[in-house]
Amino acid sequence: MGARATRPVREPEAGGMPGNLIQPKPIGALRRSTAGSTASREASMRKTTLIAAALICALPAIASAQDRDQARRGEALARSTCVACHGVGAGQAASPIADAPSFQTLAATPGITGIAITVALSTAHKTMPNIQLSPDEMREIGAYILSLRAVP
Ligand code: HEC
Repeated sequence: MGARATRPVREPEAGGMPGNLIQPKPIGALRRSTAGSTASREASMRKTTLIAAALICALPAIASAQDRDQARRGEALARSTCVACHGVGAGQAASPIADAPSFQTLAATPGITGIAITVALSTAHKTMPNIQLSPDEMREIGAYILSLRAVP
């Protein structure tokens, strides 16, 4: 106990030794050490990049069609259920009830996401038992609100 406890803790600057003993190799050094396989590795990386690019191009098309449907259902729901208190239309900054944020305002809130809207919807209206949305309806409303943010 004695010897260990009294030994000074090694400070990085004391011995001129950085705290991290395993030095990362510079990328240049790594490249040189495997020079033989560089060409084929670069070719396969290019292929991977192409596949990734194709996927990245295809996914939003699929996703956005679903989003549009979801957002359309959300808009219908908003116009039937929320419109008495919230400004629900695109570009509508004010709400019929001043305390209720307009959906355009929600859409412009920094960092707002579908999940954030779902959370807000699960906690808002605590005193309004008539406004109970199913998880699907929350996602639809969320998709609609987020669609207001997209500037065409
Ligand atoms: C009877 C009036 C009324 C109706 C109807 C209503 N809201 Fe609200 N809503 C409010 C008020 C007032 C607030 C602010 C106080 C609160 O959070 O409860 C609010 C808050 C919210 C919030 C939270 C905003 C935040 O900053 O957390 C969301 C999201 C929301 N409403 C969405 C909806 C949606 C979607 C509907 C329709 C399904 C709806 N509201 C229907 C009055 C209403």
